[in-house]
Amino acid sequence: PTFDVKKNPNPVTGEQRELLLANPGWGRVFTDHMVTMRYSEDRGWQDWRIEPRKALDLDPATSVLHYALEIFEGMKAYRLPDGGATLFRPHANARRFRNSAERLAMADLPEDLFVESVRALVCIDREWIPSAQGAALYLRPFMIGTEVALGTKPSCDYIFCVIASPVASYFKGDGPAVTLWVSENFTRAAPGGTGAAKCGGNYAASLAAQAEGLREGCEQVVFLDAVERRWVEELGGMNVFFVFEDGSLQTPPLGGTILPGITRESLITLGRHMGLTVREERYSIDQWQEDARSGRLTEAFACGTAAVVTPIGKVKGRTHGFTVGDGKAGPVTQRLKAALTDIQFGRADDKHGWLDRL
Ligand code: PLP
Ligand code: COI
Repeated sequence: PTFDVKKNPNPVTGEQRELLLANPGWGRVFTDHMVTMRYSEDRGWQDWRIEPRKALDLDPATSVLHYALEIFEGMKAYRLPDGGATLFRPHANARRFRNSAERLAMADLPEDLFVESVRALVCIDREWIPSAQGAALYLRPFMIGTEVALGTKPSCDYIFCVIASPVASYFKGDGPAVTLWVSENFTRAAPGGTGAAKCGGNYAASLAAQAEGLREGCEQVVFLDAVERRWVEELGGMNVFFVFEDGSLQTPPLGGTILPGITRESLITLGRHMGLTVREERYSIDQWQEDARSGRLTEAFACGTAAVVTPIGKVKGRTHGFTVGDGKAGPVTQRLKAALTDIQFGRADDKHGWLDRL
């Protein structure tokens, strides 16, 4: 696409930016620009713009405001040792975005348009890519239905937008293990539902469980399947892996109710390349408790773009409570995290062709 580029006439000064980048937190600091594109049924995708980041002007009857016609992606631009920048598997995000759009009967955005939009934003805001250890520029492409109509039907109009936010680690104090709350009152996704789509509604529906977990002193919620209420699915915003005494790895299979994480898939590949056995098989919460207590299970971790690889130290619930291993990051978790981040930050050879240099 050819973007109509309007540079921000009042960008944040270099000095202010350095201050913000020194301590960005997570998802609260934003860059100077955004990408927008509009879709209408008769004209397709048009009006490609890079412009100063600003508020979106929406009629109060816009479909996204009533029926949650929203999908999004989460990906990062990483600073490389030579000062350059790279994306990680952006076409995988573009593909997942198309799948999410299909599930919500939203407009199809060709993969190349998605990737070019993200690249364009990173290029214009490249000074916002942090260089601190573990920090990166989080990219949030999203699409909303913008038809002004209250009928429940697919929207005829859409806006696709990309914003960017420099981020440090998602959990406070990078590294220490998190405590999970087992959600027994709430499930995240049912068969036939939207669990495999990255739509805002899934996250809205997870927040009561997340709030319950926080009240119980836990950082994240682990959801069980909606049918039998026993199989471990995923966390509110990350996939989950288990590590066993024999060195093998296991992660819940994709079956339509969990998000097909790109980090999950990358770690399966990296694990197998390290010679580890990796199973995509169901694992019940009771078995997890039993195996953690007997020592058959030695480690567990959460993974995702935001979380990267985060060790799980403890699991709590109304009828469960156990410590995983010694409650800290285990050796397999640390090895996998290093293997992944060494590729993402350009410290290791990109054997799988996952980087997309800018
Ligand atoms: N599961 C959920 C519900 C998520 O929101 C995310 C984050 O994007 C993931 C898993 C991990 O996906 P990815 O590794 O592609 O970031
Ligand atoms: C991500 O890792 O990109 C996520 O979407 C997780 C969460 C912050 C929504």
